[in-house]
Formats: sequence, C-alpha cells, structure tokens
Amino acid sequence: MAYKLGDVILSRETIARRVKEIADEIAKDYDRDKPLVIVGILTGAAFFLTDLVREMPEDLDVRVDFMSVASYGDGTESSGVVRIFHDLKSSIEGKNVIVVEDIVDSGLTLAHLTELLKGRNPASLKVCVLLDKYERRKTEVKVDYCGFRIPDKFVVGYGLDYASKWRHLKDIKYVVEE
Ligand code: PRP
Repeated sequence: MAYKLGDVILSRETIARRVKEIADEIAKDYDRDKPLVIVGILTGAAFFLTDLVREMPEDLDVRVDFMSVASYGDGTESSGVVRIFHDLKSSIEGKNVIVVEDIVDSGLTLAHLTELLKGRNPASLKVCVLLDKYERRKTEVKVDYCGFRIPDKFVVGYGLDYASKWRHLKDIKYVVEE
C-alpha cells in the first residue's frame, strides 16, 4: 500500500508554543545549582530536544546526552525489549535526569528504559514526551511533561518518521493512503 502526506495535525507554531511552555515548566521545577541531564532517545526525539533545551534559561545547568535504542522491530509494534545501540556518554549517578521522547505509544520502550536508567542511581528521573498516543498504551508509564495527546493515527514530521521518511517536516502531519 502506498502512503502520502495528509493534513497538518500540529503546526510549527503550535508546536513551538507548547515547547516553550514545557521548557518554562521544567525551568520552574529544577534547582539552578544542580546539573539537569536531558537524555534524548534517538532518532525521533532529537528534533524536539534541541528546540526544548534552547527554550531553557541560561542559568539552568542543562546537559544534553543521547541514547539510541531499538524499540520497534521490523513491523510497527514495539518488541517490548530495549536494545541499546548507543549508550550515554556520561554517568547520570546523583544527577537530575529527564528522558525526552518524541512519542509514547505502547509505553514499552519508556517502561524498559526508565527501569534501566533508575538502576544507574540518578537523583531523580522524569519523562518528557512531545506526543502521547494514549489509546495504544500496553503498560503504565508516568509521563511528567507531555506536549500533546493525539489519536491513534499515523503521524510524521518534527522527528517522527514513516519508514524512515518525513522526519524533516516542520509541521506534524497525518499519513494517509494514496
Ligand atoms: C519510537 C519513539 C519511541 C517508541 C515509542 O521510536 O521514539 O522510542 O517508538 O513506542 P512505544 O511506546 O510503543 O514503545 P522508534 O523505534 O520508531 O525510533 P526512532 O525514534 O528512531 O524513529
């Protein structure tokens, strides 16, 4: 089946407004004198993360690190097993950590990942997602900062792909059948 881009679900302006709000909320929640490690889960979250941290105030001690994990196998369902392809560069022990994801779907990736990161003894661990496909949840995940709750439809853009395409779009759009 062939697919094409459909309507915009979230425009670049809407996304930018919400990203700023989340950054403001995070800035209020954390002490200035302790490092705050923002952990982006590649690849999708890189787009959201870079915009998010640039909205954070200069006096907040923001550090950025990335992990690359596999959640989806060949199909479109989460395998439930997180395989690490690229790990964090720095230790998170004793630090405040926020894991940033572009989307939470079944929740399996974040559930596994947060367990794994908790084992490294951070001072605190929170989760920030841009999109929450809440209807698809298979396991409970505590999302501390959420951009938008969206319906169970294929969406792409702003980091989200369909078969590796369309991550680069500035707006988030539906994918529809041709
Ligand atoms: C997406 C997303 C999450 C995961 C969410 O990643 O970034 O990591 O799927 O799904 P879940 O809640 O059902 O586990 P994906 O594997 O598509 O990788 P990508 O970021 O490289 O596109």
